Amino acid sequence: MSSESILSLRVNGQPFRRLVPAERSLLDFLREDLGLTGSKHGCDVGDCGACTVLVEGQPRLACITLAVEMEGASITTIEGIGGPEGPHPVQKHFDQQVASQCGYCTPGIVLVLVALLRDDPQPSESRIREVLGSNICRCTGYTKILAAARAAVGAA
Ligand code: FES
Ligand code: FES
Repeated sequence: MSSESILSLRVNGQPFRRLVPAERSLLDFLREDLGLTGSKHGCDVGDCGACTVLVEGQPRLACITLAVEMEGASITTIEGIGGPEGPHPVQKHFDQQVASQCGYCTPGIVLVLVALLRDDPQPSESRIREVLGSNICRCTGYTKILAAARAAVGAA
């Protein structure tokens, strides 16, 4: 029988306190317990970046992170970044450059770019490519994603 513990954390600025099984992933916790389905299940083994969230502002793969490890943490998901009513500049440029096709990879990619541009507002092309190397897109061929990232430099 799995053990459970009380988890207290902040997600998108809101405090939560929930009972979670020891083996529950952060991704399942966010999606199923909190209903935040913007973070996606892709590979579930840490290879694709679809599940990326920000933990204390740093990108983290939620599929290979245990929810219980997040005690006291502050997490940002794509829902906390912006939406149709008030998109973040990175999201705005994704839209303008048509950098999403199926959109499955988009939340994770937007989050790594948001973290990059916060820490380095004028990243080099090679730095942008290096950061995007953690996230797989099966649709776009990356050209438009790179265009959106370049366009967001200076605007984020
Ligand atoms: S779903 Fe987490 S890295 Fe692929
Ligand atoms: S837009 Fe479909 S996986 Fe990236």
